[in-house]
Amino acid sequence: MPNDTQDILIDTTDAVMTITLNRVDKKNSFTQAMYGVCADALASAAADPSVRTVVIQGHVTVFSAGNDIGDFLKGGAATADAPVFRFLREIAAFPKPLVAAVCGPAVGVGTTLLFHCDLVVAGDNAAFSMPFVNLGLCPEAASSLIAPQMMGYHRAAEALLLGEPFMAEAALEVGLVNRIVPPTEANAAAQALAAKLAAKPLSSLVETKRLMKLGQTPAVQARMMEEATSFGRMLREPAAREAFTAFMEKRKPDFSKL
Ligand code: COA
Repeated sequence: MPNDTQDILIDTTDAVMTITLNRVDKKNSFTQAMYGVCADALASAAADPSVRTVVIQGHVTVFSAGNDIGDFLKGGAATADAPVFRFLREIAAFPKPLVAAVCGPAVGVGTTLLFHCDLVVAGDNAAFSMPFVNLGLCPEAASSLIAPQMMGYHRAAEALLLGEPFMAEAALEVGLVNRIVPPTEANAAAQALAAKLAAKPLSSLVETKRLMKLGQTPAVQARMMEEATSFGRMLREPAAREAFTAFMEKRKPDFSKL
């Protein structure tokens, strides 16, 4: 997919590819085109020996508001070969180190993609949330598997069933982020980590990451498939339609009859 949108910026300098979410007027919500560009960028970074590390970053005020809700209404993620699921498969299987810098809201996939990053720097304004239930949906990106493992079942249930945000300190405590910095320093801190990684032997990095993830990989792939089937079905069901329409109409959803 050609990167003919300025909504994703891609730069490769000194062996570090930086993917910048750049749709700030829509809070960096992901369109299908953006997922496609990110999936292609990750695939090319994986195959290109001159790229040793990838950084994913947003804006100092917002990482990502998750999937574009207008795209959801159009049914954009309904099948397993949709760009969103291609992106999730690429990020989950990405063999080289992945670093993220997160400031402001990280909603839905804005949080779940972080489960597949190796190092995460958070601005002290970062707010993570996985409000799939509030949208009549279910988790994706194997978050239904990884969140309980990482956070413990009850904290994952709070995040996934209530869908309420948790802040940078809580994310640090559960191990979702490595360090908290002032928001204006987050991207630079991620670049500094990426430069450190890029100076190490790539074969050792790749083998170490592969070994750390070895036991988990088949379970993650299977869970992502299972989630994608449910997610695609639930996108078309009345609860999700009501949630998306309510968001577009800037009103509270009414689930009282659902
Ligand atoms: N899809 C489409 N458009 C979105 C969006 C999304 N996920 N998130 C934000 N936008 C748009 C808004 O509609 C608004 O557009 P407008 O200026 O044309 O009216 C613009 O981005 C600014 O959003 P706004 O809600 O006014 O910003 P905020 O700072 O008050 O709140 C968020 C930021 C991220 C907390 C809030 O936008 C939000 O909750 N977004 C939805 C998150 C969500 O449920 N994502 C799906 C996860 S699966």
